[in-house]
Amino acid sequence: MASSRRNPLIVVRGEIVHFTGDPAEEGASACEHLPDGLLVIDDGRILHCGPASAVQDAIPGDARHFDYRGKLILPGFVDTHTHYAQTGIIASHGEQLTAWLEKYTYPAERRFADPAHAAAEAGFFCDQLLRHGTTTAMTFATVHPASVDAIFEAARARRMRLIAGKVLMDRNGPDYLMESAAEGEAHTLAAIEKWHGRERLAYAVTPRFVPTSTPEQLQRAGRLFADIPGLYLQSHLAEQRAETDWVASLHPEARSYLDIYARHGLLGARAVYAHCIWIDDEDRRCMALHGAAASFCPTSNLFLGSGLFDLARARRFGLRVGLGTDIGAGTSFSLLQTLDEAYKVLQLAGQTLAPEQGFYLATLGGARALYLDEFIGNFAVGREADFVVLDPEATPLLAWRNARAATLAERLFALMMLGDERCVAATHLLGEPAWIAAEQGG
Ligand code: GUN
Ligand code: ZN
Repeated sequence: MASSRRNPLIVVRGEIVHFTGDPAEEGASACEHLPDGLLVIDDGRILHCGPASAVQDAIPGDARHFDYRGKLILPGFVDTHTHYAQTGIIASHGEQLTAWLEKYTYPAERRFADPAHAAAEAGFFCDQLLRHGTTTAMTFATVHPASVDAIFEAARARRMRLIAGKVLMDRNGPDYLMESAAEGEAHTLAAIEKWHGRERLAYAVTPRFVPTSTPEQLQRAGRLFADIPGLYLQSHLAEQRAETDWVASLHPEARSYLDIYARHGLLGARAVYAHCIWIDDEDRRCMALHGAAASFCPTSNLFLGSGLFDLARARRFGLRVGLGTDIGAGTSFSLLQTLDEAYKVLQLAGQTLAPEQGFYLATLGGARALYLDEFIGNFAVGREADFVVLDPEATPLLAWRNARAATLAERLFALMMLGDERCVAATHLLGEPAWIAAEQGG
């Protein structure tokens, strides 16, 4: 492996677990497990992933080594739906969706007109992602152009992969968060020009949800989504029953909530819809056919009392599914805690979530939902070397349980039920450490 490369290789040793496919479709062979594995990283990308014994002799003398033996190395977690501007209202008591938006969310988002406030919140949010092992996120900003600049700038400075967009609202919201459809489009175009496709960043056209956008605004959003290559679309779909009834009363002409998005050109590859709880099989078929993805946000769905996402039906229709934290209706940045609640949501519906399936959803499944699997999601050669180092014995209870686990699946399941950010020993972006717990006092 010696050559005239610009930077020394990075060599990472530990127990490696990653997915080459969906274990629900391909079975156990989709999960690659290297009890003593080595990642070799060249200029931020995976050059080699294999057993340590096979390549150690070929490593050049100037390589930089990270020894994570005793810990698990997985691809960085992918959060397919969140709101960075709601970090400060996480754990706000007592309301369901509409009242929660009015009482907590809109007033909090109002403050993002101030660039200094937005910058401070964006920096804290990105640091929280890294501390929780999340290396890629798709996030709402607020209606304010300064909020978009702040989150992209924070991600760029940390070299994170991030998809974000300015919220569009032109009806049924507080005056201080609304603008005309034309203004919303002009601000969106300016942000696309500034950020889309720059380094590891991509832009998502972001109508908040049907009740807060006029048909004109949805139409303009659909045109942008169709016209600009590589653009994403993010919104909410059928989160609560009362919201879905409200949407039906606003749009008696539509077959379903999804049908409204479809009629305005908002269905397609790289469209990501959060929640998708109160939908039917025709909606699932339609989303899958168009390549749109559903973001399953269990901590939010339980916190707001929204309902139970049906993973088995989504899978039956071949729908792309990723996990979302949906901060601040969601109650944790941790994809481990999100998996814990996903497991329980599915139990309530008589379904089960195997640990391999859970970690697939948190990594490659999320990358596929975001059409980023050619860049991230596993350790195939050429992928960007974003990874998380998990300590399976981070707490006394985890250590106790882990000592009694006979299989990898049992150990992964203990992590997903008992784990949280205390398990994140380190997070690396493009091979480089971006968060090291030991250096920060845990
Ligand atoms: N629906 C419309 N806006 C929001 C939001 O900010 N959070 C959640 N959970 N649902 C929404
Ligand atoms: Zn949301």
